[in-house]
Amino acid sequence: MTLTNKNIILGVSGSIAAYKAPDIVRRLQDLGAEVRVVLTQNGAQFVTELSLQVTSKNKVHHNLWDPEMALSMGHIELAKWADVVLIAPASANTIANLTSGKASDLLGNIILASNCPLLIAPAMNQQMYAADSVQENLKTLLERQITIIQPDNGKQACGDIGAGRLADATDIAQQVGALFQHTKLSGKKILITLGATIEAIDPVRYLSNHSSGKMGSALADACIEAGAKVTLVYGNISVPLNQKATAISATSAEEMHQAVMANIATQDFFIACAAVSDYRVKNVEKNKIKKSNQALILELIPTADILKDVCQLTHKPICIGFAAETQNLMENAENKLKNKGCDAIILNDVSGTDFGFKSEENEVVFLTSKSSLKIEKNSKQKIARKIVETLSENFL
Ligand SMILES: Cc1cc2nc3c(=O)[nH]c(=O)nc-3n(C[C@H](O)[C@H](O)[C@H](O)COP(=O)(O)O)c2cc1C
Repeated sequence: MTLTNKNIILGVSGSIAAYKAPDIVRRLQDLGAEVRVVLTQNGAQFVTELSLQVTSKNKVHHNLWDPEMALSMGHIELAKWADVVLIAPASANTIANLTSGKASDLLGNIILASNCPLLIAPAMNQQMYAADSVQENLKTLLERQITIIQPDNGKQACGDIGAGRLADATDIAQQVGALFQHTKLSGKKILITLGATIEAIDPVRYLSNHSSGKMGSALADACIEAGAKVTLVYGNISVPLNQKATAISATSAEEMHQAVMANIATQDFFIACAAVSDYRVKNVEKNKIKKSNQALILELIPTADILKDVCQLTHKPICIGFAAETQNLMENAENKLKNKGCDAIILNDVSGTDFGFKSEENEVVFLTSKSSLKIEKNSKQKIARKIVETLSENFL
C-alpha cells in the first residue's frame, strides 16, 4: 500500500483525540504522503500547532483570513492542492457542519471547495456518538459517498466504554491508502457470518457462547477496504458493523442458516466466522421454566450445518470456515476441512484468554489442502488484513 505523490489535508477538530493527530501525520507519511494540517480553533485546545508543524514539516493552517496565502485565498489554494481531505478526529460539531454545508471556518471552506475524496474519522464520547442527530448526519454523509472510518469500541478518555474512540492511526492511514489501491477483491461479493447464535430454552433463557463478532467485523472491514461488496449475517455481537456492508440480523442457528441460504447464490466467497450453536433445545418451553429441587434435563438436537450446506451447493462460492478449537488443534482443523468440503479453514485456538473470543487479538492458521500458514498473534484488524491477502493469493 502506498500514498507516494499524494497530497493530504488532515483536518483536526475539537475532540480530545486530537492529541493523536501528530501520530496520524506520521502514519500517512510512512505510506509516502505529503501532509498539510488544518486545525480548527477548538482543535487547538487539544493539540499544539507546533507539534503538528514539526511532524508534518509544513505550516499548520487555521486562519481563513491568512494574509500570507497567495491572494488571501488560502482555502481555494489548499482545496486544489489536495488529493484527499481527511478529518481525524472529526468532532460531532464538525460532522454537523459538514452535513449542513457550513463554511464558517477554514476547514469548512476547504471541504466545500475541494473536489477530491473526503474521509472522516469520528471521535467522541459513546453517548454522543450514539445520539440520533450524529448517526443521522453520518448516514447522510455516507449517502454522499464520504468515507466514514469507523470509531473503535473500548475505554474512552472520559471513562465510558463503548463505540466512539478514534480509530487506530495506522488503520486510518491504511484506509486512506486503500482509496488508491486496486486490489484483487475489487468487485468481489463476500458473505460473512459473525457473532454468536442464541438458542431459546424458554421465553427468558437461552444457550449461547462467548463470540463477540470482533473477528468477523474486522474481516468485513478488511474485505471492504480491499474493494469487496460485503454482506454480513450477524448473530449476537458487541461491535459496531461497517456501514458499507449490507447487514442482516439472525438470532438462532436456524435463522442464520435461512439468511445465508437466501443470499448465497450471488456470492464469490463465503466466510463462516459466526460461532453457530451445534445444538438447540428440542422442545422450547412456551412459559418460563419454574425453579424446583429436581434436576432439569434438556433434550438437545443438532442444528443445521451452515458451512457444510453451502459447500454442497452445485454453484458454491469459495468457502472458508473458522475452526475454534481447544484441543488437538491441527487434527480437528484438518478433519473439518475434509468433512465439510470447504476450500480453507482458519484455525483459532480458543483455549486461553490471551486471544480468540472477546479478545482484541488473535492468532490463526490459514489451512488449505495444499498449504498451512501461521498468522502470528496480532490485533484482529491486522489478522483480518493478512487473511484477506492470503485468500486473494490462494483463490484469485
Ligand atoms: C474536554 C473536552 C473534550 C471534548 N471532547 C470531544 C470529543 O472527543 N468529541 C467531540 O465531538 N467533541 C468533544 N468536545 C466538544 C467539542 O470540543 C466542541 O463541540 C467544539 O465546538 C468542537 O469544535 P470544532 O468541531 O469546530 O473543532 C470536547 C469538549 C471538551 C471541553
